[in-house]
Amino acid sequence: MKKVTKAVFPVAGLGTRFLPVTKASPKEMLPIVDKPLIQYAAEEAIAAGIDELIFVTGRNKRSIEDHFDKAYELEAELQADGKHDLLSVVQNVLPNRASCVYIRQTEALGLGHAVLRAKQVVGDDPFAVILADDLIRSEPGTLKQMVDLYQSCQCSVIGVQNVSRDETQSYGIVKAKAQGPRIHIVEGIVEKPSPENAPSTLAVVGRYILTPRIFSLLEGVTPGTGGEIQLTDGIAALLSHEKVLAYEFIGKRYDCGSKFGYLQATVEYALEHPELKDKFHAYLKNLKF
Ligand code: G1P
Repeated sequence: MKKVTKAVFPVAGLGTRFLPVTKASPKEMLPIVDKPLIQYAAEEAIAAGIDELIFVTGRNKRSIEDHFDKAYELEAELQADGKHDLLSVVQNVLPNRASCVYIRQTEALGLGHAVLRAKQVVGDDPFAVILADDLIRSEPGTLKQMVDLYQSCQCSVIGVQNVSRDETQSYGIVKAKAQGPRIHIVEGIVEKPSPENAPSTLAVVGRYILTPRIFSLLEGVTPGTGGEIQLTDGIAALLSHEKVLAYEFIGKRYDCGSKFGYLQATVEYALEHPELKDKFHAYLKNLKF
């Protein structure tokens, strides 16, 4: 029985919805309070037992590599200043057991294309895909919930959430048959259907556990919605070979790819932040609209 020990983070997107802040900085480095989105994603993977983090990057993404690297000068300064708490924050961005691999996606041809870049590194193992702009607050973490399901079903698992019908155009949508609590057997999947054509309102959010067969299928995928090589189309092809489950995760998801979702996450994470919560709560209570 194979374990899920690798996660792919497609981080080559241009982040146009956040311009101008994303002109020279990756959207995955946008902070929610004091941690960048990509670190929340990495922590979720680590908590699920993953120890190989594979980032599919592009131009202007160097700060992601720097973030997960050792920061000698900074650490020396913090050490010299006796700032041990901050030193520990900087040193524990990732646990020692984790290793990082960076692969360049030279052209942004779609999510399926990005995942396919990781083929050689993933090899013949099941692996996770995490989209960092889908931030999910849950305990245990969403990926951990999905890895547990993978362990029992040994098949691909896609994280889904119910959305309102007028939002189907923003997501991959599955056609599915209930198998058990929160678990559905996927019968079909389409990328960003219009509300009239959507087979359901179960939307794919940015968490996947996939079997390695997806790679050969992605190689055969032609540009689909938006002219891009869609991961959704690779999964649709997978359905004729293997069972795929959709899992309605327990947790609250914030669409940090949108300004509104990003602000919601910022406010709600600040309201739970040990240093900030009391002050921020009082501030919001007294804020006049
Ligand atoms: C991608 C996927 C889509 C999925 C969504 C979740 O779309 O292609 O199937 O529902 O992420 O966030 P994007 O948001 O990158 O357009």
